[in-house]
Amino acid sequence: MNPPPQTEVVSPGFFIPVIAIDGPSASGKGTVAQSVAGRLGFHYLDSGALYRLSALACVRRGVDLADEVAVAKQAAQLDMRFQGDQIFLFDQDVGDQIRTEQCGVDASRVAAYPALRAALEKKQREFKRLPGLVADGRDMGSVIFPDATLKIFLTATAEARAERRTKQLKEKGMYAKMHDVIEELQRRDLRDSSRSVAPLKHYPDAKLLDTTQLSIEQAVNQILDWYREISPVRAP
Ligand code: DC
Repeated sequence: MNPPPQTEVVSPGFFIPVIAIDGPSASGKGTVAQSVAGRLGFHYLDSGALYRLSALACVRRGVDLADEVAVAKQAAQLDMRFQGDQIFLFDQDVGDQIRTEQCGVDASRVAAYPALRAALEKKQREFKRLPGLVADGRDMGSVIFPDATLKIFLTATAEARAERRTKQLKEKGMYAKMHDVIEELQRRDLRDSSRSVAPLKHYPDAKLLDTTQLSIEQAVNQILDWYREISPVRAP
């Protein structure tokens, strides 16, 4: 998930389609977005990973997560590299560490800082390259790519999301009580949607996709159908 190589044609006048997929934690947007990107041969941006890496870098370097200026400074100097499923921070594979619940909570906390969001803006926009981009996060359609070709707000009930998250944790050998997972998800939703900058919100220009009753395949096909309606020549 590195910004695509600089050798690709990037012209200010060239149309580069972007599919922005925003939604709450554990809504399945990462899996769905990656699959849509694969089907279209587009690049993929997991913007949440940048917030998680920023938080992890601070924890590792002893930066106080309450210090907005210091957190933003760390993010501006972030040395990150994506290689297949591996994610490197200052040349260390941190793929597992950034996926922990604690790192998610820390990421959500620092993501409320305007200075951090500003520090990560350019890094995220660099992913927009030909032949196109699928970006997932909380503010992809509202702030980072406001002119996205297609905007989706992907969600599911808190219960359905908690069930998926509990299953994921079990698969990783981690035990979690469903009740605690729901509570944590709701706390995170509240923090992500009530902050003053780039809050998680279903804006009217984004299509609502509720995946509570849908499989990943069905959600992916729905997005591809919407994309084909808008872009019949480009979509396969
Ligand atoms: O999608 P995720 O769970 O990996 O994101 C971790 C946290 O990062 C999430 O709780 C809020 C924050 N985030 C954000 O504020 N804006 C984004 N575009 C992506 C993530």
